[in-house]
Amino acid sequence: MALIGVFDSGVGGLSILDEALRQLPKNNYIYLADSINAPYGEKSSDWIAARSLALCKYLASEGCEAIVIACNTATAEAIHQIRAELAIPVIGVEPGIKPASMQTQNGIIGVLATEATLKSDKFNDLLATLPSHCQFIKQTGAGLVPLIEAGKADSEETLDLLAKYLEPIQDAGSDTLVLGCTHYPFLRKAIRKLLGDSINLIDTSEAVVRQLSKQLALKNNAVEIKDASSVTFISSKDAGMLLQMAHDLMSINLKLHDLDSRMLSGVR
Ligand code: DGL
Repeated sequence: MALIGVFDSGVGGLSILDEALRQLPKNNYIYLADSINAPYGEKSSDWIAARSLALCKYLASEGCEAIVIACNTATAEAIHQIRAELAIPVIGVEPGIKPASMQTQNGIIGVLATEATLKSDKFNDLLATLPSHCQFIKQTGAGLVPLIEAGKADSEETLDLLAKYLEPIQDAGSDTLVLGCTHYPFLRKAIRKLLGDSINLIDTSEAVVRQLSKQLALKNNAVEIKDASSVTFISSKDAGMLLQMAHDLMSINLKLHDLDSRMLSGVR
């Protein structure tokens, strides 16, 4: 049993926490949402790197034995530095373009992610390793994260913005869409409404949690000694709201866990 930190710019990483509680229920978790600063995706690389490092150091100081950077943007800009500075396993998340290239039938793949992720060296280095017959239609999702943060994932406003972003992906004939931001799995319903059921949606949360599980096993921390886990929700904006959003957005039954919420303090 381990204390695991899960960090995102806001509520997006709840999609990863949901999967972590499903695959690895008998651990304790701290979920840290930097919602006061969301969205990260349009901020500078230096700002994202410095802030992500400060928050991961905070999680380590709280006793976390492993950290999941449940944010594609923070992973792209900061994971190398965070791994260099922390002596615990740090697991990141990146857009699933590699599994998409293996699963596509027609080679046309849409990628919806933040501006910072799509511009990053990490993303472009990975893209350069993929088969040249695959065509990637890259689209930034500016404005979607604030709508999800505001609890409007299923609103008309979100549907309209999403329709605009998905149009080039649909027009190109994509058979696969990579959800390259951890907030976007919460748009599944809206995406299905716009693109139908046949498009293959790629979300890497299962693979990320499998990776976490391997790292915990290496540390011999996978021993389960309790029936239920505790989850502490920490927010830089509104802890009560974060807990409410977790209830609303996550599919796991949070009532089975000991829950706590508090404001982030001491990190600037
Ligand atoms: N959830 C994030 C990601 O996976 C961050 C989005 C944002 O804050 O712009 O990229």
